[in-house]
Formats: sequence, structure tokens, C-alpha cells
Amino acid sequence: MQSSFLGSRVTTRQGDLALLHLSRDQQLPVQLSTIVSKAEDKGYAEGVVTNTRFGSFPHSTLIGIPWGSQVLASKVDTGSRGRGDRNQHRKRKADAISTDSPPDEAETSGLKQATAATSGFIHVLKPTPESWTTSLPHRTQVVYTPDYSYILHRIRARPGSTLIEAGSGSGSFTHAAARAVFAGVVEQNASADVGKEIPTKGKVFTFEFHADRHQKVKKEMVEHQLDAVVTATHRDVYKDGFWLSTDSGQYLSPKANAVFLDLPAPWEALQHLTREEDADKPSALDATSPVHICTFSPCIEQVQKTISEMRRQGWVEIDMVEIQHRRIEVKREYIGYRYEGMRGADPVAGNVDEALARLHQVEERAREQQTQGSQPAKAKKDTQGSTQYSAAQVYWDEGRLIHHSESDLKTHTSYLLFAVLPLEWSEEDDAQVRAAMPQLTGSSTRHQKSQEQNRDGKHKKLSNGHSDAIAPLPHNDDC
Ligand SMILES: C[S@@+](CC[C@H](N)C(=O)[O-])C[C@H]1O[C@@H](n2cnc3c(N)ncnc32)[C@H](O)[C@@H]1O
Repeated sequence: MQSSFLGSRVTTRQGDLALLHLSRDQQLPVQLSTIVSKAEDKGYAEGVVTNTRFGSFPHSTLIGIPWGSQVLASKVDTGSRGRGDRNQHRKRKADAISTDSPPDEAETSGLKQATAATSGFIHVLKPTPESWTTSLPHRTQVVYTPDYSYILHRIRARPGSTLIEAGSGSGSFTHAAARAVFAGVVEQNASADVGKEIPTKGKVFTFEFHADRHQKVKKEMVEHQLDAVVTATHRDVYKDGFWLSTDSGQYLSPKANAVFLDLPAPWEALQHLTREEDADKPSALDATSPVHICTFSPCIEQVQKTISEMRRQGWVEIDMVEIQHRRIEVKREYIGYRYEGMRGADPVAGNVDEALARLHQVEERAREQQTQGSQPAKAKKDTQGSTQYSAAQVYWDEGRLIHHSESDLKTHTSYLLFAVLPLEWSEEDDAQVRAAMPQLTGSSTRHQKSQEQNRDGKHKKLSNGHSDAIAPLPHNDDC
């Protein structure tokens, strides 16, 4: 079953995560289900009901409709609320029904038909990583859309990529990463060992050492039907790295070509992101492509430590960016008495003529009051002398064009550090390329140039055991 975050399905289905749009700033995430499984859902004759300030919405009215539909609130029958036992037979019946299809007659037969209420409605929206980020339950600081859209672009996360993320935190970045790498489902058993767990092209391997947060992300991935794309692992990555452990204790490599580290000490995790391998521990990285990394750190001291370690480990093209995202609102400003009563208009004098006309009106009213005696004049809406607003009279280009920039930035500002770990490049590779491309003979290749600076040969080992990798010849992926 395809996740509502990924597919292009046009109607809502049983089990989908949907966002109930209450207002511009408030969206309520709900798992659509006609199956009463939680204690708080029991007691409605209509089955599972979500209550909002705009009324009650039985899920039977939200399933099987086009995404984006407006749904009217229903009058719900709460007669049996609190008498849970009466619903037991309904739950048992519901348990036997697959969650993989829209509610059919069998699923809804025990439920009372919902009756529309006289007022109140919501819109049912398809979730996106962006809307999920603004509505998710925060368990940690999260990465917001302005940052993750740029990060995913810079680490070249694209359909088919394999991405390592640590830590999972609240799963905000995880959702965006899953959408970026998802490239459809592969044939079953394509890979003997890992194939059963990895039925999609494009994978996210997310690691978290806080047990509760890990469990929540794992559960969320199942609920959001993203578990085929995202593998959540409970792990201290500083200590134990990014391998995928199997029951037999064997280390499997995720073969990542993109990495995102949102950790307090990313430099401590870098030792596990090298191309070095030994007999039982393969490299966690994809040997056939350059690896693009981003680390996300709020303090410059963290960045400095990470850069030092990146240099030691052979990462190149190290670059730091801070995203200063600001939304600009462009609108027309309507100033003048003629716009009085119009929403958003500023009802003050728009020019000297309007100011004088209003002054005359006020004086005239005061004079009338004096001649009529001391009786206070009834506050009447005087329209003489000023043209009152009427929608038909306002032309599209009236008002002054102005812009406001958003003051409240909803982003957790951090320094984004990017780097690339090139492909390993040996003298044999160099010789092969030179043989295949004779036009290179005579002009020194990039490797030769590197060699001139680094006479020790292909892959100089530093005294601390780390490698000083040589940048490869330009690779398609890097151009
Ligand atoms: C700021 S949060 C990540 C938020 C996440 N990027 C998001 O968008 O929701 C950092 C997470 O890293 C986890 N963490 C810290 N040290 C870790 C380690 N050594 N191994 C794995 N996870 C770690 C923390 O428990 C925390 O949940």
C-alpha cells in the first residue's frame, strides 16, 4: 500500500494519514480509520470520530473522497459513549477486516450513517513533508523546510539515492528525505539478504540513540506507510557507526551516497563514514559514487571541530552556509475614506481633499447639534462628501503596492556544513582512463597533478591511520 506522502492517488483511503485543515495556521493530523481500536474512539454510533472546534467528523465521511474536499460536520450519536462493552462485537468484527482498502459495506455496516450538521466544515488535505513539519508532535528541535529543502538539494538526494540520517529526532527531516529518494518499488527478492527489508529503490537509514524517540519514529514510519523506504535503527552512532546489523551479527553496509548528521558532535560520527573496510566490516558508503554530506550545528565551535575532522578524513569541497529564509508578502494598501468598511483598508484621509471634506462634515454636524439644542446628536454614519466603498468601484490597480517581510522566522537557525568524499582513485584507475582516452596522454591528469604534490602514491595514510584521499577525475555526478 502506497503512502499518502508519496503516491499520486487522488482519493483518501482507510489507513491514510490526512491533515484536517482547520485554519491557515492549524492543521490536525489524523489517521483515517473506520475501525474503532483506541479507547478514546469508543462509544460513537458512527465509529471513529474526530472532534474539532468546527464540529464532529466521523471518519466514514472522510474516507473515499478526493483529497482537498470540503467536508461538512456531522451530528454524532454519543449515546453509547462510556459503555465500551457494547462496542466489543464491533471491534472484533472490525479487527477481522483488512486495513488495505477503502471502507466497504462490511466495514461500515455496523456503523450509523452520519448526518450532516447545519454548520461547520473542514478540508481534508493530503499530507506533505512540509505540512507534516508544521503539525508534527515535537520531541526535539526539528529541521524546518527552508533548511531541509536546501540540504537535500546540496547532498544530491534524488530518486534512487541511499541516505544516512542521524539522529532521527522528531522525524521532520526523515519525511522529506523519504520523499526525495523514493523511486518506486523494486521487484521482490531483488537482493537476497536485505531485499526483504528493502523493497524500494531509494532508501533512508535513520539512526537514533534515544530509545523512546527511536520507537516513536519507527511507529510513525509504519503508520505513514513509509517503512518500506525508511529503516529506523536504535543506535549510538558515535560508538557503533552506521552498519545494519543482522540477526547473525553480520555487518551490512547501507551503501550510502548521501549523509545528513543532525547530532551534537558530528565529528565523532565521521570516523564511521570512511571508505576503509576490513574483513567483517564493510564501508557504510557507496564505493561506486562520491558521497555528499551535510552536518547541522547551531554553534561555530561545533562547525570548527567538524571541519578539522573532515579534513583529516579526506572530505573535500568543504563549505558552510546559513539559511536566512524570509517570506515576503506583497499586497495593496488601501488608504482613504472611500475604502471605509473594506476589510484590511486603512480608513484615514487619503489626501488633503478627503481630510478637508471630513473636517467640513464634522463642523456641519457640530453646528446642527447647536441649533437643535443640547440634545446629543445621534451618531449617524455620514457619507456626504466622501465616496463610500463598494466592491464594484475598486479597480484592480487601486491602492499602493507594498511589501512586508515576515518577522517571525519559523526556522531553527544552524550552520550547514557541506562536503564531498570523492571516489577512491588508484594508479590502476588512472592508467585505465589514460589507455581509454589517449587524448589525455601528454597533459597530466588530475591524479598525476595530485601525485606531484603527494609523491607517496595512491592513498596516503596519515600518521593517525586516516587516509588523505586524492580527488578523482571529474565524475559525471560531480560536474
Ligand atoms: C536535533 S535532534 C534531530 C532532529 C531531526 N533532524 C528532525 O528533523 O526531527 C538530534 C537527535 O540526535 C540524537 N542523538 C544524539 N546523539 C546521538 C548519537 N550518538 N547517536 C544517535 N542519535 C543521537 C538525539 O537523541 C536527538 O533525537
